[in-house]
Amino acid sequence: MTSRDTRFLVCPGDQLANGQHLKLQLLFEALREECIVFRFEGKVYAYINRCVHMPRKLDCEKDQIFDKSGRFLRCSMHGIVYQPETGASVSTICEGERLRAVALCEEDGEVVITDFRVSSVMPACEAG
Ligand code: FES
Repeated sequence: MTSRDTRFLVCPGDQLANGQHLKLQLLFEALREECIVFRFEGKVYAYINRCVHMPRKLDCEKDQIFDKSGRFLRCSMHGIVYQPETGASVSTICEGERLRAVALCEEDGEVVITDFRVSSVMPACEAG
């Protein structure tokens, strides 16, 4: 992983298929945070890996971030589901609350974090 200016290369785009994710360790607003990066319906998204219900990782109980349908992100602790495109909870618990989005894009075949709040990115720790 390398940085160019304030941009951080995550991976080649073809290494992240629909429904797949990877996790990164970031310095985000000067705090070490875990970030999930995934592809959904062709687009890439990234969020801080912390549920809005309690400070747990979405994959804290199961090694997956999507529900069985593959249409929603799902916290494995108590089952809150989120829209992948917005990070908004669509469950009655915490309805409308959102995961913290991390800005990224895909260009020239690469997935790149572009969020100015990120000052460092450590290598991917796992993929699913
Ligand atoms: S901690 Fe995520 S649903 Fe409760």
